[in-house]
Amino acid sequence: MEAYAAELTKRTGIPITSADLKKVLGALACAKEFWHITHLSGRPFNVVAESLKFFAERGWVKVENQHLELTPAGRKLVDEQGIKPPIESGCKACNRRGISIERWQDLLNRFKEVVAERPLPIIDYDQGFVTEETTVARIALMADRGDIQGKDLLVLGDDDLVSLAAGLSGLPRRVVVLEVDERLVNFIRQVAEKENLPVEAHIFDLVHPLPAELRRQFDTFLTDPPETLEALAIFIGRGLSGLKGAGCAGYFGLTRAESSLTKWRAFQAQLTGQFNVVITDIIHDFNEYVNWDYLLESVRNDLSFVQTWPRYNWYRSAMFRIETVDDNFFRHEEEMKGAPLYEDQEALIFTRRFRKEQ
Ligand SMILES: [Fe+2]
Repeated sequence: MEAYAAELTKRTGIPITSADLKKVLGALACAKEFWHITHLSGRPFNVVAESLKFFAERGWVKVENQHLELTPAGRKLVDEQGIKPPIESGCKACNRRGISIERWQDLLNRFKEVVAERPLPIIDYDQGFVTEETTVARIALMADRGDIQGKDLLVLGDDDLVSLAAGLSGLPRRVVVLEVDERLVNFIRQVAEKENLPVEAHIFDLVHPLPAELRRQFDTFLTDPPETLEALAIFIGRGLSGLKGAGCAGYFGLTRAESSLTKWRAFQAQLTGQFNVVITDIIHDFNEYVNWDYLLESVRNDLSFVQTWPRYNWYRSAMFRIETVDDNFFRHEEEMKGAPLYEDQEALIFTRRFRKEQ
């Protein structure tokens, strides 16, 4: 297994261990669809794709009607290696969030009405929005932690329209959105005006440091960054510079599908090290994304099992909550200039380069 892992590391440019391969094999024991296997194994999209291709080359896996199945040789290997599949045991009532949206049904209904006409995601901005239930669960989570009621909220990038859900909840004092997509900014402004919400939206590209008048103004920030280490640092750095001081909070998502645990470790070290904040919560699979129209056009098309439309919303991210312990957290965001890298080897769209002309 170690030799295989080394070969795949070379092929993908992502560090892969034999433990990663065992996770993929374990997922194969209970799932047939590529997207389900990716979700269950908790490994980056391209690690899973390359591993499965590799397993197929060795006759451990066969592909039939775009579905994957262990062959007898594959089963033998799984047995010999003592690999056991995961046993899904998360709470179904709260969709495994640990946060109930039961008391937020009125908000959910209102939010659904309001966002029915939302602009659809476009590939240029790496967009893809979460389910309406997820957006409302974010409000419920912030309310549960005391981070939104009577507070000032900064939203950095808002294709999920959290700002509108926050406004409709009647909880925050002020909500400010910085968003690069003019269509979204106009939409948020229209709804905010019509519904008389304390929400302001500005067209803003987060490659720039936060404007001076928005620094040290907020109790809470929320963002959903692109997942290169550079982009993560820049988005979270911008959020932190918006916070008032000790006891403020930041929320953001981080996936397993586009970020290896090697990247997670480096990022967590930066949060608790350079940024000098504490991670209070990491809620697995909290954010559920609606399958976006351009998914299959944006990923590799050289593997038939990848080019299959997902049966369910497989793309999830963990919700992080960070908190400032004292006033000595990272606020030197002028240092973080320049366009962040939006894509690394772990990104879904990185695999565009494997596409063959049809
Ligand atoms: Fe639950």
